[in-house]
Amino acid sequence: MLDTLPLQQIHNHQEALHQEDFEAILGEAPGALFPECQELVGRYDLRYNTLQGVSRDRVVLRVLKTLDQNLEVAGTHRKQRWEDGWAENLSNFQRTGYDLAALVPKFVRPQEVIRLKGEYVRPVSSQFETNVVEILRYWMFKKWFHAVDHIYEFGCGTGHNLVDAACLFPGRPLYGLDWSQSSQAILRLLKAEHGFNVVGREFNMLEPDESFDLYPRSGVFTVGAMEQLGCQYHGFVNYLLRQRPSVCIHVETLYELYDQNVLFDYVAARYLEKRKYLQGLLGTLKTFEHEGRLEIVGTIRTFGSLYHDGYSMVIWKPVEEKM
Ligand SMILES: C[S@@+](CC[C@H](N)C(=O)[O-])C[C@H]1O[C@@H](n2cnc3c(N)ncnc32)[C@H](O)[C@@H]1O
Repeated sequence: MLDTLPLQQIHNHQEALHQEDFEAILGEAPGALFPECQELVGRYDLRYNTLQGVSRDRVVLRVLKTLDQNLEVAGTHRKQRWEDGWAENLSNFQRTGYDLAALVPKFVRPQEVIRLKGEYVRPVSSQFETNVVEILRYWMFKKWFHAVDHIYEFGCGTGHNLVDAACLFPGRPLYGLDWSQSSQAILRLLKAEHGFNVVGREFNMLEPDESFDLYPRSGVFTVGAMEQLGCQYHGFVNYLLRQRPSVCIHVETLYELYDQNVLFDYVAARYLEKRKYLQGLLGTLKTFEHEGRLEIVGTIRTFGSLYHDGYSMVIWKPVEEKM
């Protein structure tokens, strides 16, 4: 029987993410995952095949070949790309009668291989990445933003992360900042058509507008947005330090978490270098911690899409929050 199986199947091994996996990843005690997250884990198809042997080699080769190419680098010149991308989501949002599913960014590739637990895996469901991100997002909002009065996402794109915050904390003021005008147009519709208490505002993280004051007792987060700042994140971090929110969470690729003695991590670190994605943030936060300016509450490595772990987290607090 084994002889007749396609090579792909012989070398793959099917597993699934369970509640215990999320508890282990997020550092929660067994059974302590929030009920909202447990419900999502139960609802979604989180099965996947871990690629082994030839299947894994094929993926590694693909990654290496990509690294050999001239890849587009992050930077101000890409602003129009984001504008165009979010304009497409905006038009789909309108065309579908404001269906929230139209807000999922196009960079989430439904059929693609995923990085999980140090392995390349192929999810069974096309929604795996979106679903896992949703579970992580619910956890982070419940865990860190339950006591804040205002929530800000910098580099919010379509605002789909803020939609979850609106569902978890009905009526709580939410702010979506981005340098894209289409992002703000979507946020206006989220308020007008869905009644979410959300405001969009133009903000360039490379040149933070110091006149934009955060309310006391605020929670700040970013998801894959500081990634785009490369090594130019200092102005934004200093802005946040001056604003003294209660807590900041960056769900980002974190260069310093990759163990470059391991092939799986080495290729991810090279990818960040090639694309000029975020590098050095964790080191800077540690320096600021030593200087007594902030406290790093934790770092968490979760999972990623094909090339790097874009959903790692660093959580930090300024030493003294604004009250
Ligand atoms: C990878 S997307 C992530 C969007 C959203 N956070 C999400 O999870 O879908 C990066 C976002 O950062 C925004 N961005 C990139 N550079 C920026 C900058 N200098 N200032 C403000 N926004 C920026 C882009 O417009 C885009 O919305």
